Amino acid sequence: MQTTNHRATLAKRRADVAGMFDHLASRYDLINDVASLGLDRSWRRMVLEAVDPQPGQVVLDLAAGTGTSSVPFVDAGAQVVSVDMSLGMLAEGRKRNPGLSFVAGDALALPFADDAFDAATISFGLRNVQDTEGALTELLRVVKPGGRLVICEFSAPTWAPWRHVYTTYLPIVVPGVAKLVSPNPAAYDYLVESIVSWPDQEALAQLMLDTGWSAVEHRTLVGGIVALHRGRRQR
Ligand SMILES: C[S@@+](CC[C@H](N)C(=O)[O-])C[C@H]1O[C@@H](n2cnc3c(N)ncnc32)[C@H](O)[C@@H]1O
Repeated sequence: MQTTNHRATLAKRRADVAGMFDHLASRYDLINDVASLGLDRSWRRMVLEAVDPQPGQVVLDLAAGTGTSSVPFVDAGAQVVSVDMSLGMLAEGRKRNPGLSFVAGDALALPFADDAFDAATISFGLRNVQDTEGALTELLRVVKPGGRLVICEFSAPTWAPWRHVYTTYLPIVVPGVAKLVSPNPAAYDYLVESIVSWPDQEALAQLMLDTGWSAVEHRTLVGGIVALHRGRRQR
């Protein structure tokens, strides 16, 4: 396996983030499955349940990558538009999931009219966007009044001893595994840094409220390693 060394920094420059994902697209889904011990599949089911799309509704899956986060929506009979700014992830997605509607686009300037979607979701994407509040505001613009937003993202373990173990071992285990299996291991150094510096459950909920989302609630998964946040655009 040939390896490269493309990574973003915490400045999250769009060109760096897109380039990093371009260079790990070919193994992205495999590594996710292995690193999460297959748990990512159950997280994706929970995202679908939290969005709860009704027949005929149109859902935006932002930062959809190769489309793995979009597939459960199609399987449930919803119409889904899968948006990402990494051309490499989109190309891999078109190969793997030729039935999905992929659109190249930036979370901070979505190529859609106001009120275009019944609901929106973003899985493991928001943490990589340069301006979190800008993306939340842009999502609010494209979701219809009354529509839902569901965010699935890494978060912070809520039980202090577990948080200690997690934050101690994360920087050791993740880069170690990435060196063995990823075509772009440097990306996993960024992954660790971006997880550790990401707002915890309460702080992300507050950002959603600050940007105009209402009825904000969240639940933690795997003791807080992952969190699901849900909000609604007021009618
Ligand atoms: C970790 S992947 C998640 C892919 C997919 N949602 C999943 O759950 O497997 C993060 C994705 O976010 C995309 N991304 C990061 N910043 C973005 C932005 N500003 N606009 C659109 N996509 C973005 C990256 O290109 C990458 O494909």
